[in-house]
Amino acid sequence: MKLSEQLFARKSIEVLLAETEGEHGLRKVLGPVALTALGVGCIIGAGIFVLTGLAANQYAGPALTLSFVVAGLGCTLAALCYAEFASTVPVAGSAYTYAYATLGELLAWIIGWDLVLEYAVASSTVAHGWSHYFVLFLGIFGIELPHMWVGNPFDYDPATGSWVATGAIMNLPAFLVVMLVTAILVLGIRESARFNAAMVILKVAVVLFVIVVGAGYVDTANWDPYMPYGFSGVLKGAAYIFFAYIGFDSVSTHAEEAKNPQRDVPIGIIVSLLLCTILYILVAAVLTGMVPYKSIHLDAPVAEAFGARGLAAAQLLVAAGAVVGITSVLLVLLLSQARILLALARDGLISRSFFGAVHPRFRTPHKATILTGILVGLAGALLPLKLLADLVNIGTLMAFVVVCGAVMVMRRTHPDLHRPFRTPLMPWVPIGGIVVNLAMMLSLGWENWLRLAVWLGIGLAIYFVYGRRHSKLAHP
Ligand code: ALA
Repeated sequence: MKLSEQLFARKSIEVLLAETEGEHGLRKVLGPVALTALGVGCIIGAGIFVLTGLAANQYAGPALTLSFVVAGLGCTLAALCYAEFASTVPVAGSAYTYAYATLGELLAWIIGWDLVLEYAVASSTVAHGWSHYFVLFLGIFGIELPHMWVGNPFDYDPATGSWVATGAIMNLPAFLVVMLVTAILVLGIRESARFNAAMVILKVAVVLFVIVVGAGYVDTANWDPYMPYGFSGVLKGAAYIFFAYIGFDSVSTHAEEAKNPQRDVPIGIIVSLLLCTILYILVAAVLTGMVPYKSIHLDAPVAEAFGARGLAAAQLLVAAGAVVGITSVLLVLLLSQARILLALARDGLISRSFFGAVHPRFRTPHKATILTGILVGLAGALLPLKLLADLVNIGTLMAFVVVCGAVMVMRRTHPDLHRPFRTPLMPWVPIGGIVVNLAMMLSLGWENWLRLAVWLGIGLAIYFVYGRRHSKLAHP
C-alpha cells in the first residue's frame, strides 16, 4: 500500500465487528446497570473531591456551579456523539476505533495515542488526588506520614515561573494504590465489575450526604460576589474541573463486554453523565455556600468544609468515602486503558504479542495492565497534581472534538449504516460540542498546548517507526 493511501486507509465496520469474536475476544457479562455503574464509578472521583478546591479558590469563586454547567454541557454534547458511535461500532477501542472506521489510520492512531494520554495520565492524577484524602484520613487518627513520602519531588511555582524542589522523595501512597488496583484488574472483569458496583453505591451515598447535610450549613452570603473572576474565570474553572466528568466515555471502551451493547452502551454513557452532572452542580453550590471561596481548602476541600464547621464525624465519613470512591475511579480508568491498548495492538499499531496478550485463565490483558500500572504509579508519585490534570483535560477535550467531528463525517460516508442510537438534532449537537469543548481547550494556556504537541509528536514518531510497518490493515 502506498504511504498516502495507508494514512487514510479506513477499517470497515464489518471487519471491526468480526474481530471481536475469537481467541482475543473478551467475556460478555455487562448489562445496562453494570455499564452505568462503570460510568459513575469512573466519573465521581478526584475531580469533585479534590480539584474543586483550586477551581473555586483561584478560578471561578462561587460561580464554580456555572463552571460545572459549562463543562457538563460540553460533555453532554460529546456524549450524544459517543453514544451514536458506541451503538453502531460496539468495539473495545472507543474513539480510536470510530476514527479508524471514518477518518483513516493516521488520525485514528493520533486519537488512540491521545486516549492513552487520557486514561493513563488521568489514572496518575486520580492516584495523586486519592493520596490527599488518604493522608487526611490517617491524620484524623493522629497518624502522620513523613513529608518525604507523601509529596512529589518537584513543583511548579507560578510566582517565579520556575520548578522548585519540595524536599519530598515521592508520593508513596499514590504509587501503592495503583499497584493494588492493578493486581485486582489482572484477576478479571467480572470480579472487577462487582467490586466496582459496591464502591459506586458507597460513593453516591457520600455525595448525597454532602449535599443534604451540607445544605444545612450553607450561608448564602458566601455566594456573593458570585463571579469574582469574571466569565473568563468561569471558563478556566470549567476547563479545570472538566476532569471531574471524564470517565463517562470509558463506558464505550467496555462495549465488547456488554451483553447488548447497541442498546445498553448509549444508556450507560448518557445516564451516568446526567446523574453526575446534577450531583456536581449541587455539591459545588453546597461547598461554595459552606465556606467563603478564598478559604476553600486546596487538597481535600469537601471533607475540610465539614471539618471547618467542627463536624468531625462528617469530616471522617466524607474522607473515608472519598478514599474508597476515588479508588473505584482508578479501577475503571486502568481497566479502560488496557482495552485501548488491546485495540491498538489488534491492529498491529503497537506490539500485538505484548499488548494484545490475553491471559489464558483470567481472560484479561494482563501484560498491558501491569506495564500501565507501573508507569501510571510512577507518574502519580512524582509529578504535581495540576500539571497532570491539565494535561489530561486538554487531551480528552481534543478526543471529544474529534468524536463530534467524526460523527458528522460518518453520517456522510456511511449514510445507510444501522444506527440503533442516533445523535439528535444533527448537525447542531456535534457542532455545539466542538465549539464548547474547543473553548475550554483554548482557556488552558499555551504550556498545555505545548505539552499536548510534544505528546502527539512522540506518538507520530512511534507510528512512523513502528505502527506504519506493522499495521494489519496495510499488511494483511
Ligand atoms: N472523573 C474522574 C475523577 O474525577 C476522572 O476522578
